[in-house]
Amino acid sequence: MKNIKSYTVLRNGVKMPWLGFGTYKLEEENITINSVKEALKIGYRHIDTASFYDNEKAVGTAIKESNVPREEIFLVSKVWKTDQGYEKTLKAFESSIKKLGTDYLDLYLIHWPSKMQKETWKALEKLYKEKRIRAIGVSNFTVNQLKNLMEDAEIMPAVNQIEFHPKLIQNRLIEFCKNKNIQLEAWSPLMRGKVFKIQLLKDLSLKYEKTIAQIILKWNLQMGFVTIPKSTTPWRIKENADIFDFKLTIEDINKINSLNEGLRIGSDPDKVYECIEIIKD
Ligand SMILES: NC(=O)c1ccc[n+]([C@@H]2O[C@H](COP(=O)([O-])OP(=O)(O)OC[C@H]3O[C@@H](n4cnc5c(N)ncnc54)[C@H](OP(=O)(O)O)[C@@H]3O)[C@@H](O)[C@H]2O)c1
Repeated sequence: MKNIKSYTVLRNGVKMPWLGFGTYKLEEENITINSVKEALKIGYRHIDTASFYDNEKAVGTAIKESNVPREEIFLVSKVWKTDQGYEKTLKAFESSIKKLGTDYLDLYLIHWPSKMQKETWKALEKLYKEKRIRAIGVSNFTVNQLKNLMEDAEIMPAVNQIEFHPKLIQNRLIEFCKNKNIQLEAWSPLMRGKVFKIQLLKDLSLKYEKTIAQIILKWNLQMGFVTIPKSTTPWRIKENADIFDFKLTIEDINKINSLNEGLRIGSDPDKVYECIEIIKD
């Protein structure tokens, strides 16, 4: 991993940049447009959105106004809980790409597991075969939910985007995904700001002369995770990308790993799986 454009190669050969730009909570149109444009100006080439974030139109505008060719950008969106099911997912995809002003996605994810996940996956497989999506994957899937999906899948998921930060390291899930060649991706890598209070990270920040955000994002990459920090602050967007000129030692990676408490800041996928209503198409 040499620079911001460095990528991992997914199971189907598609290149996915290790560093992406997250857009959750970017709701105000101008802030979204300016933040995404700033990220693209700095050199980010991977943008993560979702229909649920209600900002796909602004993300599309930012991409267009940036003048960065579409084919240089790895664009990700996700199908939301209430859009699951075969026909609904096909419709949700069309709505997302229309808002984004593109005719294809680089990666489309099932946002959360549900009892409808197999029908939803069939729709993703169809879109993949039609070359409307370059890679398909999931988000927030546990080992059991992945096994359930994979038992009938024709195409295996290329990515699992999960909550990942020093307080939540799901070792069994990590091992399963690595064994099955499913690329791991970290959401809320900075715990939405909570990592900055952790003493060990303050110490490592002094040791490496890097900020806490940079230490954590580098830890994500060294753990084999694609990472997608979000920021609306231009200097932080730049700071978060300045992580390719140093390396953490194995000892320090292990120290960060020892902070794991199994603590989620987001929903528990098992509870979400049980709760999503079965809505027929
Ligand atoms: N699949 C899913 O279910 C799921 C769930 C949640 C998130 N995600 C994705 O993951 C992305 C990242 O997660 P997230 O947005 O929840 O949280 P995050 O990236 O962990 O944290 C974002 C927060 O950290 C601040 N921040 C960013 N860089 C900083 C820095 N260098 N120094 C100090 N503060 C900094 C930001 O503030 P400012 O903006 O004020 O700079 C913002 O408040 C999302 O945007 C979204 O794309 C996916």
